[in-house]
Amino acid sequence: MSGLNRILAGKLAIVTGAGSGIGRSTCQILSREGATVIATDKNLAAAEETIKHFTPPSAGDLDHSFVFMDVAEAQSINKALQQILKKYKRPPTIVVNSGGIARDNKLLDMSELEFDSVINVNLKGTYLVMQATAKAMVDAKVSHGCIINISSMLGKIGTSGRINYTGSKAGVIGITKAAASELGQYNIRVNAVLPGLTDTPIIAHVPQGIKDLVIRQTPLQRIGKPEEIGEVIAFLCSERSSFVTGASIEVSGGFGM
Ligand SMILES: NC(=O)c1ccc[n+]([C@@H]2O[C@H](COP(=O)([O-])OP(=O)(O)OC[C@H]3O[C@@H](n4cnc5c(N)ncnc54)[C@H](O)[C@@H]3O)[C@@H](O)[C@H]2O)c1
Repeated sequence: MSGLNRILAGKLAIVTGAGSGIGRSTCQILSREGATVIATDKNLAAAEETIKHFTPPSAGDLDHSFVFMDVAEAQSINKALQQILKKYKRPPTIVVNSGGIARDNKLLDMSELEFDSVINVNLKGTYLVMQATAKAMVDAKVSHGCIINISSMLGKIGTSGRINYTGSKAGVIGITKAAASELGQYNIRVNAVLPGLTDTPIIAHVPQGIKDLVIRQTPLQRIGKPEEIGEVIAFLCSERSSFVTGASIEVSGGFGM
């Protein structure tokens, strides 16, 4: 692919949860589109693997890196951001919040710890990363920026056995709209992506019977692939979506529409 056709040429992108699944695929696609990618994860070795396995034309020509970041800890986010600003002398103007966890249980059985841990990573983590990266962009007076938060179709429709996860993902839709309202004046767009069931390690524990049920309720009659989410994220990061902000984009094969 020639440099001219790459929709993210020259951009600096940071991805959380970059060591696996949707985050990893997104890194690959952003780099293919010309962005320099900073892969961050709580699992540093996995983030390193992501960068190592970039395939041409993205490999080699750009200064990609990997950094430890626990999105549930403000200190960890700030430390990573300092490292990034020191290395690149500019803030990332593409931010993808893909770090997330699930700790499923029914409402009547769920512990406070199970609830808090999911809210802390999925919802508070998204807020903390948005706040730190948006501040850096505003301070540097960047001409435009974009933040993509990964919510879930379950944040829209709710489901049994996931009150913590559903609450966190509904919250992500809400804070995406709130942040979009505040950051538009700085030309920073903020959007949410709502994947349906997608083939990554986070669904390893989902019983086959549930997966089959979801597939039956999905017009396209299958689960998604992580790269199908990453392609939409890349579009939302590019100037091709320059008038899209505060949106919740469903990438679910029609499930839950
Ligand atoms: N796979 C699906 O079916 C699906 C559907 C809807 C939404 N999502 C959402 O997509 C996002 C990515 O999920 P995935 O499917 O790629 O899962 P995954 O388990 O493959 O990847 C999640 C990544 O997040 C990282 N992570 C976990 N806690 C973290 C923390 N505190 N700080 C930083 N990183 C952390 C993990 O190390 C892992 O690399 C999540 O927010 C998930 O809720 C996934």
